[in-house]
Formats: sequence, structure tokens, C-alpha cells
Amino acid sequence: MRRVVFVALLVLILTPLVSAWEVPERGVIYQVMVDRFYDGNPSNNEPLYDLAHSNYRLYWGGDLEGLIEKLDYIKSLGVSMIWVSPLNDNINALAYGGAPYHGYWTRDYKRIEEHFGNWDDFRRLVKEAKKRGICVIVDYVPNHSNPVNDGEYGALYDNGTFVTDYFKDAGKAKMNPITGIREDIYHHNGNIFTWSGIPLKYANLYGLADFNQLNPWVDSYLTEGAMLFADSGACGFRVDAVKHMGLGWLETFYLRLYSKGPLFIYGEYFTPSFQMGDDLYEFYRYSNVSPVLSIPIREDIVRTFAFFGGLDKLSEELEDYYSHFVYPTKAVNFLDSHDLVRFLNAGDRKDEIQRFHMALALTLTLPGIPVVYYGDESYLVSKDGKGDPYNRPMMVFDNTTEAARIIRTLARLRKTNDALAFGDFKTLTASYETWAFERSFGNHSLLVVMNKGPAVNLTFSIDWPDGNYRDALYGGEMAVSGGKASVYLPRNSVYVFHIEEEQKTPLIGSITPYTAQPGQEIIIGGAGFGERGEVIIGGKEAKVLSWEDGKIVVEVPKLERSAAWVNVTVVSGGRRSPPRPLRYYSGNDVPALIAVNASLVGDVSGTLWLSGSIPELAEPRPLLKSSTGYYFTVAPLPEGLPFSVRFYEGKAWGALRPLNMTLYGVGNRTVILTAKPPEMQEGQKAGRKNVALYTLTGVLVAALVVMWKRKR
Ligand code: NOJ
Ligand code: CA
Ligand code: CA
Repeated sequence: MRRVVFVALLVLILTPLVSAWEVPERGVIYQVMVDRFYDGNPSNNEPLYDLAHSNYRLYWGGDLEGLIEKLDYIKSLGVSMIWVSPLNDNINALAYGGAPYHGYWTRDYKRIEEHFGNWDDFRRLVKEAKKRGICVIVDYVPNHSNPVNDGEYGALYDNGTFVTDYFKDAGKAKMNPITGIREDIYHHNGNIFTWSGIPLKYANLYGLADFNQLNPWVDSYLTEGAMLFADSGACGFRVDAVKHMGLGWLETFYLRLYSKGPLFIYGEYFTPSFQMGDDLYEFYRYSNVSPVLSIPIREDIVRTFAFFGGLDKLSEELEDYYSHFVYPTKAVNFLDSHDLVRFLNAGDRKDEIQRFHMALALTLTLPGIPVVYYGDESYLVSKDGKGDPYNRPMMVFDNTTEAARIIRTLARLRKTNDALAFGDFKTLTASYETWAFERSFGNHSLLVVMNKGPAVNLTFSIDWPDGNYRDALYGGEMAVSGGKASVYLPRNSVYVFHIEEEQKTPLIGSITPYTAQPGQEIIIGGAGFGERGEVIIGGKEAKVLSWEDGKIVVEVPKLERSAAWVNVTVVSGGRRSPPRPLRYYSGNDVPALIAVNASLVGDVSGTLWLSGSIPELAEPRPLLKSSTGYYFTVAPLPEGLPFSVRFYEGKAWGALRPLNMTLYGVGNRTVILTAKPPEMQEGQKAGRKNVALYTLTGVLVAALVVMWKRKR
């Protein structure tokens, strides 16, 4: 008996707390603004509190205890992840007339905001959510702390100990000779005044103290803060304002978090439309390192359903958007959010509820992981205004609505229909008012048909077996005969048809995370994996940690590679899956500022790019030009590893023209590229010297011992 208890305890201790709860594509996320959800503990409401809930810029009482109380409600919607607004300790004063009830004005990344609770409450939330099959994703804000000109003036604490504020830091700041920016803990480069180039990432976003993530203290501090959530059982992060941080730092930050387990991390890159000149275009054209919120397509969806616009145009915009992603099904789609006007507050149509249902069903069936913003299920809107902060009214709980039924039905279907979770995206027919798109994955298919105009009998070609099909939402019917589908669609209707046949061949639908380093756990989601088999990554067999028919967990092996992407294949029952890509990093990466003296490069047309001989640098990266005469970029680099780089010029959306130049460097926090391969590094030299010294000492000691023995 004792032994059994001991073994059970050991298993419990060894079972990591951290893991993406399930394959993320199988789930739906429910987004909660904690202060506005439910007040489970009135004793933590003061100060900066408005009991009447009339001042939208003060605390209204919601907290972690309230969220825990409402977990059964959340579960009733069929969702499997909760994204909570930032929980870290925020400033204790008003700034610009508002309190940080939203959580985006952090002062201490190691503590929980006292209006929301404490670490025990967070751990209890994770535990209680887990009992209900739900995991918790934390909104984390590593770009900036809090306002520099009001409130607490960028005050920063390390688990209660004061570190600095923006003015003290300004006194200590020095100019970085490479970037030309004054910096210490923060950047001191004014406010973002142009939304591109250096200011985009190295200046204050709306007056918020902008972190210098390359300062090693800041780097560890922000990483440790996020680790506390991971260690307390968070299954992922929504990372705020990724547009304003160096991609290279983010990559290193994510890799460190992933070393805790296969977390689901997605970034917020705020851009209402996907422009070619956008930094996001560069971010995605080559790197594709993390999923992002689908902000650009959200705008298209709302315009089309709440105002005007053709479904044919929308389908083209969506296809274009998805074409930028290595894994389109990892896009995080949403209809409403705390930053945008809620759909039901946006337009002014008589049929807005039906249109809302259509847009909601679309969000839940597009490639990607859907987010439901709190209150979407209960048609929550504010009577007092539209955008921020009026898109954050106090929650009204009602899970008996048509919207709640749509969410629940499609969340359930996502668990059983592989095409809804992992399928591709193909429009079969589209006009201004009607649209049919299909998603397929192996032997599973999904067909979404809609009509926002007068009732119509829609016919179109489809490669489905003959028969009558019944829609999952309303029981609508579709007849298929000889490759022609025919379906009657009332005004403002949306139907979802589906097929699930047995999946015999292994097929990979998702890898979480799809950026990884050796030794890291990844979850492979898909179908037809059978009871056991092998997973091959970059030609090497990976260690299997668990195996189910639709989900495998493996450890990424160490590879001798210089490519950025490597193939992952599942072999089961003598059948091989088609390969899917994994973005491979060598491991032990540090965030490095890589620079080249502009005089070495000469004139450049467009942007200067580099790519290099190690996986971290294998995809081209754009460089910025500083006022101090350097081109620079931030990239993860394995410490001590020598590498070479080549250069290109051009625009992100065109072909890159190679320049005839190769330079060299060795992985470190700052690397100035040189024309000659570097001499052996100091550390390596010292290492060699030590080895020589130890060998010499050893030989001398041995000689002395021999002489001494002979004398005796
Ligand atoms: C984006 C967040 O979603 C928004 O609510 C916040 O104010 C800004 N980032 C700044 O943190
Ligand atoms: Ca409270
Ligand atoms: Ca920044």
C-alpha cells in the first residue's frame, strides 16, 4: 500500500504542471476581462473602485475568486481555454484619470494585482479550471510597464522591492553605440511618433515606459515573471504589443517558456489591415515564429456583416491573409475584444442579431482557434458608448441564448471533426450575398454555407458523395448528387455540414509549439496515428512521451542542421504521414544584438537583410539603420557558436537581391560582424589555456611521484 502511495506521489511530482491542455486547434478560447467579470470578494475592491459601475475607468470589483465561481458557467459554453486579462500587480494610482482595472499598467511582474487576488488564487483557478477540462492562458505585457508622465511614472518593483522609475532610469541611461538609443532598464527615446522602423520598437507606446529587453536584468526579470505563471499551471500566454518588441527577443523569450512544456503562445500585433509595408509582413513572410491574433481579418468580417461588403470579397481577403502563415490553423480568430467596438455596438441594423450569429459562426469555423469575448454569448453591449472602455461593461450571465447554442455546438463539433480543427480553406462559390467554403482534412470535411440576402436556393459543385446532409446548427438540409450541391438558404442564415469517415493514414494537423529547440516537448495533433509508432524529426527518431490516435507528445532531438525548418513525420502501422514543418533552434539561445558597420555595406536599395549559417539565422531578417552608423537586428543566437552571414537588399514583398558580401560572428549578447572569421573566443582561449595548464601540472605531479617512488 505504502509503495502504491509513494509511486502515486512520485508520478504527481514528476508530472509537469505546465502543458498545453489539449491540442489548441481542438478548443475554443473564452476571453475574460477579470475586473468586469464577477466580484467574488468585495473586500479587495477598494481603492480606485466605483460601486455604481458608472465610471468605466475605475475598478468594478471583478476578481479571480469571482472567475472561479463562474467556471461552471464558462464550461457550459463548451470552451476549453480561458484567456484572462493581465493579472500582474498594476500601479496604485490613477493615470490620465483612469485606474489600471484593465491590467496593462504593470509595476511588479512577480506579483498578482491585489484587486484580483494572489498567487494562491491563481493556482486555485488553474486547478478548478482543469477539473472542468479548461486551461488558463495569461495575458502578459513585456513591452512596457506603466505611464511615464502620470500615475507612478514607470515605477518598477521586483517582488515588492523598488527597482526604478522612468525618471531615475533616465538619469542612469546611456546611449547604446549600436542602436543610438539612450537606454538602461527602459528606452528613453520619446513616444512612438512614426509607426515603423526604430521608433516602432524602441520608443514609448502611448506614453508607456518602454522596456529595454536587451538589458540582461530586464530580460531575466520579464522571463522570470512569465515563468511564475507557467510554474503555477498556465497553459499559454497572450503576449501584448508584440509589434513593439524585437522579434529576436520574443523568440528567445518564447523558447525559454517552451522549455517548461508545450505552451500555447500567441501575440497581439495590432494592425487593422494587413499592409505590405507593415512590419508584420516582414514578421510573417520569413519568420512565422508565433501565432498572432487575427486582427486584420476581424475588421473585414465586421464590415461585411455589420455594415456592407460582399462575401466574395471577404473570401478573397481571408485567402490572402491565410496565405502568409505556415500554420493558418494556429491563427487566433475573434469577433469582439476589449480593444475594438463590439459587433453589436458597431452598426445599427434591424437584423444585427442574425448578422451577429452569422459572423460568430464564421469566426468559429474559419481556419484558426476561435476566441469568444466575454458576454458575446449574452449579447452584452454598453449603453454609454462604443469603443474602449465601453466595450468592457460588467458581465451579464446568460448561457441560454441562441449565441450560446452556436458557440456550444461548434465547440463540440471542433472536438470530433478534424477538418474544423485542422482543415484547409477553399471557397466553392461566392457572391455578394452567398458563400460556400469547404475545409478538408483526410477523410473529414466541413462545409459552411451562408446567405446574407433574400432567401435563395444555392447550387454549386462539390466533391462530396451523393446523399442528403443535415446541418449541425439548425438542421438545414443539403442534397448532393453527381457532384452538385443544392441547399435552400433563408435570409441571414448559416449552415454547417460535416463528414467524418475513418482516418486510416496518419495525418499531422498541428504542432504545438511549432518553434522548438532540442529537448523540448511538442504536441502533435492530427488523426490516424493508431496506437503506437514513430515520430521522425529532421531525419532522427524523436523520443515519444505519449501516444494517442489524435495526439502524440514527443521530445525534439538534437539535430546537426543549418536549416530553419525541419520535417516532422509520423509513422504508424507501416504508413507515413506527409511531413509538416517545425521551426528548429539550436538551443541555449540568448537574445543578441547583431550589428554591421554601415560603411562595410555601402548603399542599399530598400531594406538590408541578412541570413546565416545556423538555423536561427537561416531565414532572412531585416536590419534597421541607426543614427550611429550601424545596421542592426536582434536574433536568438546559441552562445559561443561561430557563424557566417550573407546580405540581401529589397522589400519584404519582393524578391531579395543578394549582395556580394559574407561576414562572420560568434553567438553572444552583442555581435559586431567582421570581415574575417573571428579568432577563437576569449572563453574558448581561456578554456584551452586551462587545459594546457592542467595537463602540464598533471605531467609534473606524475613525474614528481615517479621520482619520489624511485628514491624510496
Ligand atoms: C494592447 C492591449 O490589448 C490594449 O488593451 C492595451 O491598452 C495596449 N496593448 C497596451 O498594453
Ligand atoms: Ca473584488
Ligand atoms: Ca518596445
